[in-house]
Amino acid sequence: MASTEGHQEYEEEKQIQSLPKERGWASRYLYLFQGFWCPSTHIQGVNSFQNHFQAKHNDVIVASFPKSGTTWLKALTFAILNRQRFSSLENHPLLTSNPHELVPFLDFLFHGDNIQDQLSYLSNMTEPRVFGTHIPLPSLPKSIMESNCKIIYICRNPFDTFVSSWSFFNNIKSKSLPEVTIEEALQMYCKGIIGFGPIWDHMLGYWKESIATPNKVLFVKYEQLQEDVKFYVKRVAEYLDCPFTEEEESNGGIESIIKLCSFEKMKDLEVNKSGTVGRNIEKKYLFRKGEIGDWINYFSPAMIEMLSKTIEEKLSGSGLSFKTRA
Ligand code: A3P
Repeated sequence: MASTEGHQEYEEEKQIQSLPKERGWASRYLYLFQGFWCPSTHIQGVNSFQNHFQAKHNDVIVASFPKSGTTWLKALTFAILNRQRFSSLENHPLLTSNPHELVPFLDFLFHGDNIQDQLSYLSNMTEPRVFGTHIPLPSLPKSIMESNCKIIYICRNPFDTFVSSWSFFNNIKSKSLPEVTIEEALQMYCKGIIGFGPIWDHMLGYWKESIATPNKVLFVKYEQLQEDVKFYVKRVAEYLDCPFTEEEESNGGIESIIKLCSFEKMKDLEVNKSGTVGRNIEKKYLFRKGEIGDWINYFSPAMIEMLSKTIEEKLSGSGLSFKTRA
């Protein structure tokens, strides 16, 4: 057994070393794996997710490019889907668990040699199950695309996504990594070199699928959620075939979910102020400012020009555009 595992590890290592590689800013190197950039530590988890995960017809997948509002959308989706089970908001699990604990990332779940344990945990989860993923659409396991499960994708304007990533990774990255300036990081970002990037390909994959099969992918922008969260809470509930009743609406059911999942509420919860989640991420770093347009405090005119040109080049003609200021 040990030697089979050893052999598998050796093969995986060999596979990783044969991939194109570039210097990262949050990890030493990123590898071009299935067309997206990935730290070597994530590749095994992604491989296992693709090989082992079996979607159920009523699963819900919250997909996103990192730092686009995943935590918020996970919280909202969990609260919307489970509102009959947890009608009393005083005892709601979101008050005592971080959204990433209630809605686990499939990309990181199948790490190491505990795959059977994870599979039995998954099969015992209360349905409908809600999961997160950062994987680009073409790399999702077949069973997700072929079953009736639904995907909600969140993305955010590339300026704020960059600043949110920059701030987040500077907080969590290993101190032993070489220093990278914000200009160098932006150059890499524009070339697509960031975990799960290129961001353009990521967005466009889900964007096109949301147009081709609107019953499979609901495409939401962080800025839209900020502007009219009530509209999108209702939209998500309808899309997931659990629309709010008139009675729920008149009883303030939507507003209480919005309040529970709001940035101010979540950031202030004891459960989100200390401790770690997932792969040792300090929970406090998941809640920074939660604003549209904070990028203006980080970008020089040259950086604005570089990213604006790249966005124009990559997204023009796609119909996808973003609001960048509040
Ligand atoms: P900022 O860094 O701009 O503040 P992700 O959840 O994908 O990692 O995205 C993180 C971004 O979402 C961070 O943005 C974070 O502050 C913001 N965020 C987290 N929870 C939020 C919430 N409940 N409402 C609005 N924004 C939230």
